[in-house]
Amino acid sequence: MRKLIAGNWKMNGLLGSFETLEAIITGLEHSPELAGKQALICPPYTLLESFARRCRETPLAIGAQTCHELESGAHTGDISAKMVSDCGAAYVILGHSERRADHSESSLMISAKVRAAVSSGLVPIVCVGENLAQREDGQTRDFVLSQLRASLPDMIGGHEFVIAYEPIWAIGTGLTASTRQIGEVHSAIRGALHERFGAKGQQAPIIYGGSVKPENANDILSVQDVDGALIGGASLNADDFLSIYRSA
Ligand code: PGA
Repeated sequence: MRKLIAGNWKMNGLLGSFETLEAIITGLEHSPELAGKQALICPPYTLLESFARRCRETPLAIGAQTCHELESGAHTGDISAKMVSDCGAAYVILGHSERRADHSESSLMISAKVRAAVSSGLVPIVCVGENLAQREDGQTRDFVLSQLRASLPDMIGGHEFVIAYEPIWAIGTGLTASTRQIGEVHSAIRGALHERFGAKGQQAPIIYGGSVKPENANDILSVQDVDGALIGGASLNADDFLSIYRSA
């Protein structure tokens, strides 16, 4: 399976960030091992169209960080999946824990967004992950699988999609889940996808996110059933992003 190395820039990036984009593109173009890997950057909306235009005919794909579930209408401040795709983006992150927390996005809403995304030809990256209390309470597996079940509409089985396992306690904290913890959850997700979607479920990449850095990328990306990484902070630095990409 092709590894996906995705950068989530969150609310970071100005017009001056083109320098970082150029450095990433140059680094990728000089990487000998492009086959079997896909690099992706998800900038804020303000940079989506210009980044997507620049990345045409390059090895770097561009994605958004969320989208609305409807195609158009009176929803001030929102952006539809169709608009994201119209910009030239190919992916959209959905259900990131920061969206679930800051914008009260429920799994039901995320499922509707996933449907909208695939209908517009985007590949959704659906995020799931437990908080520290759930982890310490031994609820990780049940919680992650119930989030997964509710965030994926049945129709997704016929489309390309990606799952990102992101333990909330490891995001932006410098704490990373151990390779054993990551392996356990990824294998549980793999099993659940297989059970629900059959062979199609086997083909969906499951990527890990939460304080992935050049120093730990090698170990994380070698875990069974880890098909890539979703990188926040470290993706803002071209050298760090490229170093993680090369570890895959
Ligand atoms: P982080 O963020 O790499 O800064 O921990 C990961 C994410 O939220 O996707």
